[in-house]
Amino acid sequence: MKMNITETVLRDAQQSLMATRMPLSDFEDALDKMDAAGYYSIECWGGATFDSCLRYLDEDPWERLRTIKKHMKHTKLQMLLRGQNILGYRHYSDDTVRRFVKAAVENGIDIIRIFDALNDVRNIKTAVEACLAAGGHAQGAICYTLSPIHNLEMYVGLAREMETMGCQSICIKDMAGIMSPQECFDLVSALRKAVKLPIFVHTHATTGLGNMTYLKAAEAGAAGIDTATSCFSGGTSQPATESMVYALTQMGYDCGVKYDVLKQVNDFFLPVQKKFAANGTFDPYVLSTKADALTYQIPGGMLSNLVAQLKAQNAIDRLDEVLAETPRVRRDLGYPPLVTPMSQMVGVQATVNVLLGERYKNIGKEVKSYIKGEYGKAPGEIDPALAKKVLGDAPMFTGRYAESIEPEFEAAKAELGDRAQSDLDVLSYIAFPQQAEQFFEKRELKRALVASYSIEEVK
Ligand code: CO
Repeated sequence: MKMNITETVLRDAQQSLMATRMPLSDFEDALDKMDAAGYYSIECWGGATFDSCLRYLDEDPWERLRTIKKHMKHTKLQMLLRGQNILGYRHYSDDTVRRFVKAAVENGIDIIRIFDALNDVRNIKTAVEACLAAGGHAQGAICYTLSPIHNLEMYVGLAREMETMGCQSICIKDMAGIMSPQECFDLVSALRKAVKLPIFVHTHATTGLGNMTYLKAAEAGAAGIDTATSCFSGGTSQPATESMVYALTQMGYDCGVKYDVLKQVNDFFLPVQKKFAANGTFDPYVLSTKADALTYQIPGGMLSNLVAQLKAQNAIDRLDEVLAETPRVRRDLGYPPLVTPMSQMVGVQATVNVLLGERYKNIGKEVKSYIKGEYGKAPGEIDPALAKKVLGDAPMFTGRYAESIEPEFEAAKAELGDRAQSDLDVLSYIAFPQQAEQFFEKRELKRALVASYSIEEVK
């Protein structure tokens, strides 16, 4: 029996534990070792890495990807893509999505895991098609959540649609770590019966269920799991690679990895972890088990955001009320999975409802767009009174929203002029205009500085 291992230290692990602040220079020297470990794939790009490179790390995300690729002779590179939202928080035009996906594959990505926050498959279609056209592996991801309307049948239906669309594998994406071992067993079993595609399972250790859930995934015949090298594992990150491999190997699974190399990889990252722990970027709080997330059904990351929000408002004593209000807001909105950007939208609205002492006295701009149908189809029914309050007599938009967005690329290219050195710069700019512009300015300053030094040297 084979169990494929996807190592997440370069993306989800560092995103979940320390807000994606690891620069390329901290891990470049580990890449050859990582390539020798025998992972099925390394998740290294997408999610928040793109934003973080431009915003905090002063790095060109495309160049980071090409550098990683140079070291990968045996291992596939994987990224996480938010469907029509690519790596941002709004819907982009189809031409942007096509160009972005094509560029990701051309610059080194082999596998693109594509999800939509509402599990509206219309929002992953363009990305899946573009990935396949570029020769990439398109993995359709189902956002896992619990609600009165989410059930096996719904997930099986999604997987079937993804298979028809051309996806080459399916991922169950449990971003909150709330999928129990038994639920995982039942879901993987049901999906394997319904589709011919390999099933990958992604979870987090947040609630303490992760390791057990992976064992049940294996028992149900999952093709692969996502794990993080041990010093970047646990808590809001993934279960540890070495521990999962150790356990699975004894149970007769061939994980395809070299245990001694896994140790070398972890030895490399240990001082990196220590550095971020020492400067406070890696707060050990994220490592403790948050069983509360099972009661509130709120992802661990979202819980800490709510706490931070309330502290900033000097209203931490209202936390219990906000925690009670959050599932009610989610119900009113038709039970969206609590994943970016829905988790932020629901959390902020619940806080506002409590602090203003009146529900929906003030409705967030994004929540309004969502109710209008601009993020896609709500999984369940939106509360009619709330919908009426936002829409008035106007009808809800039920089409595929991206079709109402004008092509963006040529306009952005013209706007940037010679500040863009390549089409990749234009894509960075469309995705994150402000951050990209700042990055281009700094890059230009550096270039000018280097040029002035070399002229003096010549003289
Ligand atoms: Co994740």
